[in-house]
Amino acid sequence: MSAAYEFRVGGHLDGHWSNILAGLALTHGSDGTSTLTGPVADQSQLHGVLAGLRDLGAPLLAVRALPPSVGGVTDPLAALTWPRRTERLLLRPARPEDAEVTWRFRRLESVCRWITEVPTSEESYRATFTDPARLATTLVIELDGEVIGDLMLRVDDAWAQKEVVDQARATQAELGWVLDPSFAGNGYATEAVRELVCICFDELGLRRVTATCFADNEASWRLMERLGMRREVHAVADALHRSGEWLDSYGYALLVEEWRGASRA
Ligand SMILES: CC(C)(COP(=O)(O)OP(=O)(O)OC[C@H]1O[C@@H](n2cnc3c(N)ncnc32)[C@H](O)[C@@H]1OP(=O)(O)O)[C@@H](O)C(=O)NCCC(=O)NCCS
Repeated sequence: MSAAYEFRVGGHLDGHWSNILAGLALTHGSDGTSTLTGPVADQSQLHGVLAGLRDLGAPLLAVRALPPSVGGVTDPLAALTWPRRTERLLLRPARPEDAEVTWRFRRLESVCRWITEVPTSEESYRATFTDPARLATTLVIELDGEVIGDLMLRVDDAWAQKEVVDQARATQAELGWVLDPSFAGNGYATEAVRELVCICFDELGLRRVTATCFADNEASWRLMERLGMRREVHAVADALHRSGEWLDSYGYALLVEEWRGASRA
């Protein structure tokens, strides 16, 4: 089971503990904590690290399994249980054979208008869709067994100052969505993305989710606002549309505490 872990303890540990504790990388935080990060080969090594920390008497503040990565891209989906059911939908990681069905709606002009890349042919679309790094960040939305949309979940490191860079690793995610237009206007995208946000906060332990869109893409930012996301950036004429026009864009975000607060209310 080799997986990357992060252990945060109270106090500034001496550098030699890094060698004793499975060679994990050690950093010191300005809040008086130490963070040990790195691969742990199996359960017995994990228990060894936890026992070592207990023996040295450092209070253990947090343990976190970091998502694995595929081709340099964090693969958050691998560690979770699938499929996921909502009231009307099913979510699951995308598979190579989903290229054909997603191509049917991703090639439509009303969809392409807002997304990064217009596929020039089904072959080139399939090659992009089936790239392992792309599959590692893509889910599909099923309604009654039919794929009606897809979602992006890209786990990222937050920006951090050097001393605390390990604590910012894999703490946030960028989300994206596309729905087959023939299923629009029923709340399906909202229902699917709501579940994705739950996964981010409740299961991946992330602290912030973000999304961006052209300001003119009203359907997309209305979806974000339905979910309680906050518009925190309005960038003016910062994004070049393939029409040749420089367009405004919006950046939205949601913190875990805002999500939990809204769920309680
Ligand atoms: C962005 C996109 C997913 C939004 O699709 P959508 O159908 O508007 O979103 P939903 O499926 O959540 O449906 C919401 C709409 O259904 C209505 N609705 C009906 N039943 C509903 C329900 N049970 N729950 C919530 N909304 C419901 C809502 O009122 C809303 O309509 P409104 O915006 O006119 O008020 C879709 O437009 C799309 O795929 N666009 C192209 C790709 C794209 O732009 N991706 C994002 C790039 S940044």
